[in-house]
Amino acid sequence: MTSKLPWCVIGQGALGSLMAVHLAQQNEQVQLKLRRTGSTEIRFDGQTFRFQSNVQLLQPSLIFAAVKAYQVVPLIEELRRYEAFAESTLILSYNGMLANEEEWLRPQDWHWVTTHGAYRDGAEVVHGGHGQSWLGTMTGTAEKPEFFTALARALPPLHWQADLRVRRWQKLAINCLINPYTVLHRCRNGELPQHVAPAEWRSVAEEIVRLAAYQGVTLATDDLLTQAQQVVEQTARNRSSMLQDYLHQRPMEIAYLNGFVAAASAAAGWIAPTNQRLSEQVQSLSSMKSTTSKPNPDNA
Ligand code: PAF
Repeated sequence: MTSKLPWCVIGQGALGSLMAVHLAQQNEQVQLKLRRTGSTEIRFDGQTFRFQSNVQLLQPSLIFAAVKAYQVVPLIEELRRYEAFAESTLILSYNGMLANEEEWLRPQDWHWVTTHGAYRDGAEVVHGGHGQSWLGTMTGTAEKPEFFTALARALPPLHWQADLRVRRWQKLAINCLINPYTVLHRCRNGELPQHVAPAEWRSVAEEIVRLAAYQGVTLATDDLLTQAQQVVEQTARNRSSMLQDYLHQRPMEIAYLNGFVAAASAAAGWIAPTNQRLSEQVQSLSSMKSTTSKPNPDNA
């Protein structure tokens, strides 16, 4: 049985494209919301998938948006302008956290946290790393939704976790422990242990644990370090998303990762010096970079 509402996949990022293709393979009705109306092709695994794309949200839909953290607020501002949004379900996936998420997200909005890795090469989407995903909300009060089965069939394994807060904080920590260092040292994930002192890594994690506790989420520093170490090993050959953004001169998500930890700690009344420094170092690199030439990503 397919879902009652059509799917509307937002953006043409790698994860969104991957989900669009896999939902279509499950005979789900899928449209894309892009900056142009018409027909769009995505190639995957030797096959070509053709989707109808629209600029607007035309009808109540199951909206799947895997976006950059800095795109979340503009996206919600736009969706709120469509009548169909009130009756739509929103499933969001992004790295990091927003300072004032509850202002932007409705209590019924869903988070999809994933360890799948994908990248786009023109119209081709490549499923580079097979991981797993979790679906839930930040309030932890919702029942498992009907659309869970469609999402789980499309890109398995999908775990139901009513309260996704711990999972999102763990993902935030992993990204804070890996991504800025890969940019500062221009290295692949697996090379990090050569560059980052264990005491420095611990300090990043401890600052996150303190902030999470203040926000009512219990984490353990040693667990975060173990998880980050595992991700480093499992993704040793990968360039982190932040390094890819840096190399392609795209905006980086640092303000939503270490920058978020620094700012939210300051708002809570203390400083998080290691996350603050990392955030400043990465930000200064990105402003320096806009005045220098574009490097070749393959030299990283
Ligand atoms: O942002 C990324 O690149 C990924 O989330 C991760 C887990 C750090 C692996 O590269």
